[in-house]
Amino acid sequence: MTFSALRSLQLSRRSLFLNCSRSHSTNTFPLTVRSLLDNNVEAGSDVTVKGWVRSVRKQKQISFANINDGTSVRGLQAILSSEQAERLSTGSCVELQGTLVKSPGKEQGKELQVSSMDILGECDSTFPMQKKRHTFEYLRTINHLRARGNAGSASLRVRHAARQGLQDYFAKHEFTQVDTPILTSHDCEGGGEVFKVTPGSAASGNAEFFNKPAFLTVSGQLHAEMFASALSRVYTFGPVFRAEESLTSRHLAEFWMLEAEVAFIDLEQLLDITEGSIKHATRHVLDTCPEEMEFFDKWVAKKDVKGKPALLKRLRNSLDKPFARIDYKEAVQLLQGANKKFEFPTTWGSSLQSEHERYLASEECKDRPVFVKNYPSDQKPFYMLENDGKQKNNTYVDEHGSTVACFDLLLPGIGELVGGSMREDREDVLESKMKAAGMDTEEYGWYLELRKYGSAPHGGYGIGFERFMLWLTGFENVREVVPVPRWVGHCKY
Ligand code: 4AD
Repeated sequence: MTFSALRSLQLSRRSLFLNCSRSHSTNTFPLTVRSLLDNNVEAGSDVTVKGWVRSVRKQKQISFANINDGTSVRGLQAILSSEQAERLSTGSCVELQGTLVKSPGKEQGKELQVSSMDILGECDSTFPMQKKRHTFEYLRTINHLRARGNAGSASLRVRHAARQGLQDYFAKHEFTQVDTPILTSHDCEGGGEVFKVTPGSAASGNAEFFNKPAFLTVSGQLHAEMFASALSRVYTFGPVFRAEESLTSRHLAEFWMLEAEVAFIDLEQLLDITEGSIKHATRHVLDTCPEEMEFFDKWVAKKDVKGKPALLKRLRNSLDKPFARIDYKEAVQLLQGANKKFEFPTTWGSSLQSEHERYLASEECKDRPVFVKNYPSDQKPFYMLENDGKQKNNTYVDEHGSTVACFDLLLPGIGELVGGSMREDREDVLESKMKAAGMDTEEYGWYLELRKYGSAPHGGYGIGFERFMLWLTGFENVREVVPVPRWVGHCKY
């Protein structure tokens, strides 16, 4: 064998497969479209590509097909003979072999000169994902195919990166990830918006499976507190369920929540951690998903008043400055003094509606995320720390009534992204708050015992992960950014 033949064999061997050399495994994976485009493989190499046909452009002599395997927004342009193209249709699954060549077009650096083609899966002519743009509402009705388009697949990749970014933040700050249960006998938020769980079969007759009512969790917080009182810094990330009959663009019946719980901190430090984790994950997404973020900026997010893309600018701006921090009392004053007519007027004690939340972040804080702190006690759940001077640095008693050491983080255009608080760590105060809320203190005996045996000052928060995804992508409805959405009346798939 000549040297050049040997060299080309080596090259094509190298380019055919990604070796899992790190794990010294003998397994190999086919190269993805993204790695082919991102310079991992030199032009001139022989490669095999597998993916789905996004579009076919048939011409007399040669034809073009865009092949996408869901790893990149771009797709690989394949150059085919007219006979090959004749057998192809949008949506079919193919394996192409050929040579990677430099592309004369500006759109992409490389394209594939196809030598042979296998159709792995034909696509029926009724395939609904055609090349034209579809509305997000329509795509939702074909959720099983939604990720075959760029909006669906880029959203899943960004979701993956956002989760990684959050986890990376917590790993860097010595948190332990704990898994909290999905089945529970508690209603953490006390709102009564729980789904009750009963066995589907008649196995247990009419009796309760667990000998008492059980629900799908609305929040992992109480269980996270169990572990924060032993490991100091924990977080849990999982699905939570709320039987809210809400049809808004911000509510799902099943959504994902990242919940952190930290001992030995005060409210301001809790805000620092919240801000730090959101910023870290946002930065991680911007760094690791540049092409997806450009796609959202250009095609999905609202433009600014001048019609220019605004998503990336807004995200970068939010990283540069500290988030605003105001008290609930101040928020009410700002709303009362606003030069704007709200549907719901505000006085001290009234809960902030989404029109108020959006106004505070978008207009009052000039498109900057804002923490609103220290809400009236009777608006918030039983577990929040009463602001009565126990904490040295966070004494805050309002002349209007009692408040709790809590916060909501409000985002421009979205509203509430995070809810969090310091937790009531005094056994007697907690017990009387539970009784006032009509709770069964025996059922929650273990939660009270955490205060009896070495109670630690602690606090935590929950990030609604789909709302975080709205922030990152510019989509306007949480149904677009959760892989398989569930909302009242909708449980398809
Ligand atoms: O404010 P929430 O109810 O807080 C808790 O559940 C606390 N136990 C969290 C904690 O302190 N560990 O919910 C937290 C966040 C909200 O700010 C919102 O972003 C999101 O969860 N959220 C929803 N997201 C989608 N659909 C719904 N129905 C949601 N309800 C709340």
